[in-house]
Amino acid sequence: MIALIGAKRPEATLHGQFLRDVLEGLTAHPRILPCKYFYDRHGSELFDRIAEEPDYYLTGAETELLTMHAAAIAAALGRAVDLVELGSGSSIKTRILLDALLTPARYVPIDISGEYLFATAERLQHLYPDLAIEPMVADYSGRIDGLRAIEGTRRVVFFPGSSIGNFEPRAAVAFLDRARILAGRGGVVLVGVDLPKERAVLERAYDDRHGVTAAFNLNLMTRLQSELGAELESDAFRHAAPWQPEHSRVEMRLVATRATLIRVGGQSFPFKAGEHIVTEHCYKHDVAAFRRLAVQAGLGPGAVWFDPDERVSIHWLDA
Ligand code: TRP
Repeated sequence: MIALIGAKRPEATLHGQFLRDVLEGLTAHPRILPCKYFYDRHGSELFDRIAEEPDYYLTGAETELLTMHAAAIAAALGRAVDLVELGSGSSIKTRILLDALLTPARYVPIDISGEYLFATAERLQHLYPDLAIEPMVADYSGRIDGLRAIEGTRRVVFFPGSSIGNFEPRAAVAFLDRARILAGRGGVVLVGVDLPKERAVLERAYDDRHGVTAAFNLNLMTRLQSELGAELESDAFRHAAPWQPEHSRVEMRLVATRATLIRVGGQSFPFKAGEHIVTEHCYKHDVAAFRRLAVQAGLGPGAVWFDPDERVSIHWLDA
């Protein structure tokens, strides 16, 4: 049975926030647009296509990792797992874990893109007719509450896909702290973390040869136009994704290719040719660095699993 948690319409309440975030971001130095706004329905679909791009090694690597280690992870988690996934998207990789789990008690996919979430949950319910699936529309960059506890279960907060890398390190600690609270005493936080590697591999991953990542990034401009009534020349911006080893991150940018202007919310934001907006960071944490963040959030680092080529990792953290 699919139960809708939280009766209010989060999309409506998110709208005013969207405009405020955009105005604040375009006023900041450097200019930014918060990455959570990538994920409207179209953005979520583009994101699924990025995941299938051969240049984007993360999905393949994490899928290999899960395929190899799901049985060990499931055995360590035990029975009656209450699996909560943050930013569940299409839940494709989660199925590997779900299939390995011994009698899971519930699956709670949480995503910011409501329409997409419910479509996915319905599809999953057909595949797992006996599993209680309770999708929840929420923004994991804030607190998640309203999730009822199920007695006798162990809550596992699953955060795959290296999305932890999209937080600034301080925000990552704050996120992990909230994940620890959500998991509760005796719970576990399972986090997928991409590892630092050569520049060429990283830059290709975030600027794939078919231009899907570029389209995904530029979709933000489309959303400004369609949802906030912004006036802008979308062809005056291009996608760029430089690796910044000094910060151990890839920086996603929208770069003005000529002098141009964005008008939104009664304000005007001029750009010179070459000026950019930062839309996202993708931090790559090695094992020791990530464990330090986890410890700062009050979590107990446990096992770490890798794919055979050691491109990505999954950390077990005790809540
Ligand atoms: N969190 C993943 C990563 O950092 C997926 C992702 C988030 C992503 N934003 C993205 C991938 C933008 C490509 C482009 O890789």
